[in-house]
This record gives sequence, structure tokens and C-alpha cells, in this order.
Amino acid sequence: MKLFFAPLAALLLVAGLATGKGKDQPAEVTSPNRNLQVQVQVKDGIATYTVHRNKQVVVAPSRLGFVLKDQPALSGDFTITDVKKSSFDQTWTQPWGEVKNIRNHYNALTVTLQEKGGLKRTVRVEFRVYDDGLGFRYDIPRQEKLTDFVITDELTEFALVQDLDAWWIPANHTDIDSECLFKKNKISELRETVHTPLTMEGPALAISIHEAALIDYASMTLTRQANNVLKADLVAWADGDRVKIRAPMTTPWRTLQIVQKPGDLVTSYLILNLNEPNKLGDVSWIKPGKYNGMWWGMHMKKYTWEGGPNHGATTENMKALIDFAAKHKLSAVLAEGWNEGWEGDWTVEGKFNFTKPYPDYDIDAISAYAKAHNIGLIAHHETGGNIRNYEDQLEDAFKFCGQYDIHRLKTGYVNKRPGGERHQSQFMVRHYHKVMETAARYKVMIDVHEPVKDTGLRRTYPNMMTREGARGTEYEAWSDGNPPSHPTILPFTRCLGGPLDYTPGIFDIHFKTTGTFRVHTTLAKQLALYVVIYSPMQMAADLPENYEGNPAFKFIEDVPADWEETRVPQAVIGEYVTTARKDRNSNDWYVGSITNEQARTLDVPLNFLTPGKKYEAEIYQDGANADWNTNPLPLDIVRQTVDAGTVLKLKLAAGGGAAVRLHELP
Ligand code: NOJ
Ligand code: CA
Repeated sequence: MKLFFAPLAALLLVAGLATGKGKDQPAEVTSPNRNLQVQVQVKDGIATYTVHRNKQVVVAPSRLGFVLKDQPALSGDFTITDVKKSSFDQTWTQPWGEVKNIRNHYNALTVTLQEKGGLKRTVRVEFRVYDDGLGFRYDIPRQEKLTDFVITDELTEFALVQDLDAWWIPANHTDIDSECLFKKNKISELRETVHTPLTMEGPALAISIHEAALIDYASMTLTRQANNVLKADLVAWADGDRVKIRAPMTTPWRTLQIVQKPGDLVTSYLILNLNEPNKLGDVSWIKPGKYNGMWWGMHMKKYTWEGGPNHGATTENMKALIDFAAKHKLSAVLAEGWNEGWEGDWTVEGKFNFTKPYPDYDIDAISAYAKAHNIGLIAHHETGGNIRNYEDQLEDAFKFCGQYDIHRLKTGYVNKRPGGERHQSQFMVRHYHKVMETAARYKVMIDVHEPVKDTGLRRTYPNMMTREGARGTEYEAWSDGNPPSHPTILPFTRCLGGPLDYTPGIFDIHFKTTGTFRVHTTLAKQLALYVVIYSPMQMAADLPENYEGNPAFKFIEDVPADWEETRVPQAVIGEYVTTARKDRNSNDWYVGSITNEQARTLDVPLNFLTPGKKYEAEIYQDGANADWNTNPLPLDIVRQTVDAGTVLKLKLAAGGGAAVRLHELP
């Protein structure tokens, strides 16, 4: 029977294509609510996809395919040989996060493309279409003519129909290029290659292009072609190759979040949904929380990382920090500069030793003291970008963590070219992945500085807690700093990838130890950042002496680092944003509002509160005549009883903010 039907089926398929008037029929899929529609078609051998929203074209036919090394491009002469559709609807629970339960609801379309002549190679493109956007990835099966190969260019395009406003940072591929200030331009004005998430806005439309599940592949940056067409530009290895790979392989998901307004981007969990479920099994050992350290003291030059008279990571300093953490509901203390190798140029090969503490850092005494106070230690592995040196010591470094019961680690890659390669290259993607997996084996949660961009891998590896990958508070200590608008942009750009270790909480705004440098916010805004910028490891970044006795610190004590729900009641990117989050472990809500250089009053409806319940609002707001530039410190703490019908009036100073705890009353 099979022998009889197989050729017949083949015949029908060929006949079907032949009667398709010489063209392949477009394959289509819509989002569950039918608002988004994706079409894949082949015309003259070229495969493209198109996206409609409410029947309007949002992404015009956009090319799919690859250029390969030493063989013809996989980009034309295609025919569609198979189309498969399916649907999925499941709600899953994050072990920790900015939201507890996430619905993963999509319709899928997988299109198999095959070359009609030549090498007759096959590539599948899989689309998942959600109500808030879509993801697609290539799947290259193992085949005679594609086993080990090199991708020299990915041809994926995003042909945006409208010339939207885009919030971008350059991907110049030569520096720690994620640590830049964002700029806003029309897509048609983009002259440089840019990083993702690339967030764009138009009337009643917000779109962000990014990727999900970046594993063993190069990061995707974007270069503008003609008009508003953005094209994938994979970050290359030092030798110019983009991706060295073996089939079968799948690329990361290329994602387009497409929503009504910027706030909806923040509450879109499409990128997490496109990642694989938890691979680590029991993750009860993973605990979000707040931490402190002598970190800021080093950046403002009160302490040094290297040993010497001002060495920061001493036994005495650590004990004082542990005392402070225990007294103020923090869960861990970070020690930077605890290990040998910090003298001179950090980027010199072979410098750092990850198992050898400085003599004035008595690790036995410190870990016993931390344990007795129920405080965790956060180890620090600054690699200086010397990947070989770090990987040679990796297993020993984690064994050392195990020996001292250390379950949290901050890593760092201060170097223009770690290991001679770029931070966002496949070489580094592999390295970061190796460290994350090794950390998981040793039950260590990680916080990566100078990381590869976040593409939601925390769903699969819940020990991947947080990372930098943005211009954080450190820039306030030794550069022009972060202008007041900067943190009003981050939630809609960098933070769409995932948690950000921004290191907020500087109370001594004019710290004065490094000349004219200073923090570019009011004190109240520093508090609001704990709600606006999500991180499951959230730093109380200032030194204990600047917190002790200041009533504002109570907000940092109270604010959780783990949430049940997140809402963004109001936002204009670059101007202001209000974020509301519900604590996972109580019925309390927290609100953070921040503004750029403009003072403003925001009316925040508290309609997210449980109807019929009363709450005490504890409001930390800019005081009389507060202004980030001239008068950053005045802060009032006021209390009022509120309920779901209340509209809270928050007065934000120029460069200011407000932080609110909404405590449910019995
Ligand atoms: C840069 C990191 O962002 C910062 O947090 C750290 O203190 C220094 N490198 C030293 O490792
Ligand atoms: Ca950094």
C-alpha cells in the first residue's frame, strides 16, 4: 500500500505546485485573537514573510535565508514542499520573576523550503504567532550537503512599513557597546548598526525587534538597508565568520513584539515563552533578594580592588557589611577585589586567580560570620576578558564556591575584546553558556556584567538571575553619568531582554570623592528605580554609612525582589514611566514613578488593588524645591489610606521620582 501511495502523493504534490499557476501558494497563520497575521511566500524562488496587524501591513515582504562559506547561498531557488500548523495554550509558573504565571498561547506555522535544483538543500522556518507579536526561527536538518558549515551572513529582514521612531544604541562591535546612552531617530535616519532590543514607536503602535534563546549562535544586530528595511547583521568572530555550526541546528528566535503602547511591551512575555522550560529540575535553592557590598566605594575611589592601604574587600569591611545586611533585611553581600590579580591592567592574560583570596580577606572567618548571620556571600569573578584563564580555572573556581557555601556569583568581562573576540559573538555566547551551566551544577545563581544580551534563557536556566548589559549606575561615579531620561528609556529597550543589575540606591548624590562626578537623580528617584527596573538580585548600592539613620532606607528594606504581577499604568519613553508590581509573598503592591528633566504631576489610578480592601500608602516623594540638579535630597514620606478607587497624585521633581508601598490593611 505504502509503495503504491507514496509516488501518488508525490505526484499530487508536484501537480499541486504546477497548478499553483507557477507560484507557491502563500502559507498563513494568525494570532489566537486573529489581530496578527503572518504569511510566508515564495516568489521567483525567494522566500519572504509578511506581517499584518488588524489587516494593515506592518512588515512588508521580508527576505529569509543565509549566505554560507564555500558553498552557494541558501537564499533562492526555493519551493515550499511542506506546511504544518499547530496551536498551543499552556500557562506556566516562573520560579521567580516579574510575574508569576505566564500564558504561552500561540498558533504555529512551519514551512519547509527546498531548493528546486542545485544542491536541493532544505531549510524549515517555524513561526509562532501570539496576540502580542511573533517569533520565527530557522531549522536546518542534517543533510548530505549541509553537515558542518559556516554562516557568513543571515539575510533575515524586517521591512517595516512605517518610518517609526526608533530607540537605539550602536553596535559598533569594538567596545563594551551595550553600555551606551540611547538615542531616538526615525528608522530611515539610522546610519549605524544597532543593538536589539530595538524598540520603535508610531501612533497607537509599539514594536520591538529582539531575539529569544540565543544559544550557540552569534547575536543579531540590525543594519538599515534602503527605506525602513532592517536586516540581521550577525556579530562576527575575529576571523570574520559569523556562525560555525553543525546540522541539525536551529537558530535563535527572531522576535517582533507588536503592541498598542510601550507599556504593553514591558508586560509582553513572548521572549520568555519562546525559551525552553526549566532544565534544572528542583530550583528551590534559587532565591531572589537584595544585596549590598563595598562596590560603590571602589567606583568612587574610596576603596581599591587591589590590596593595599585602601583595600575594600577586607575581613573587617565584610563583617560590617554582613552586620548591615542582617539588620536591614538584605540577603547577601558582594565582595569585589577579594582575590589576587587586581594590580595594574586587568586585561592582561592570566592575571586573576579565582581560588586565592588576598591575605586581608580571611575567607574562613568571613564565611563563618556570614553563615552565623544567615547572609549569603556573593563571589566575584572579574575575568578581565581573559577567557582562557577563566575557563582553565572554572571547575576549581566553582568548587571553591562550594567549599565556602557560596551560591551567588557576579562575573565580569571588562575588555574591549574578551578572548580576542566580541562580547556578542558566537565565541562568547558559548563561553557565557558554559559558565551558566557550570554554575547551575554547583548550585550558583549568577549576575553577569559585560554580558551577552539577555534573550530569556532564565526560563531554561533559572540560576541565570540578572546581568548588566546597559549603562548602569557605575557611570555616575566616573563619567558624565546617566542623564535623567536614561532610566525612563531602559524599561522599554534593554529591559525587554530581561532583568538588569542597574545597582540603584545611591543616597549620597554628591559623593564628592571623584571631583565633579555625581548622580543625576533626586533621592526619591533612586528609590523608585527598585520598582521600575526589575532585577531578582537588586543591589542597595551605597555604603552603609550613607544609609544608617536615613528613614528613606526603609523603602529599600521593604521593597521585594520577586513579584507576582507587573503593570505599567503610564509611560512615555524618554519622559516618564510608572510601574506597579505586586509582591509575591504578601498582598502588598509597590509603585515606582520616574521622570526625565521635566518636573510633572502624575495621576496614578490604583485600580489594580483588590476591590473592597483598604491599603496604607507609604509615599516617598520629592520634597519642597527638590530638583535633581540643584537640590536632589529633599524627600517627604507621607502616609494615606487608599483603595482601588483612589487616584494617587504623585508630584515628581525635575529628574525626580516617587516610590510607594501599598500595604494591605487587615
Ligand atoms: C565593571 C562592572 O560593571 C562593575 O560592576 C565592576 O565593579 C567592575 N567592572 C570591576 O569588576
Ligand atoms: Ca560594566
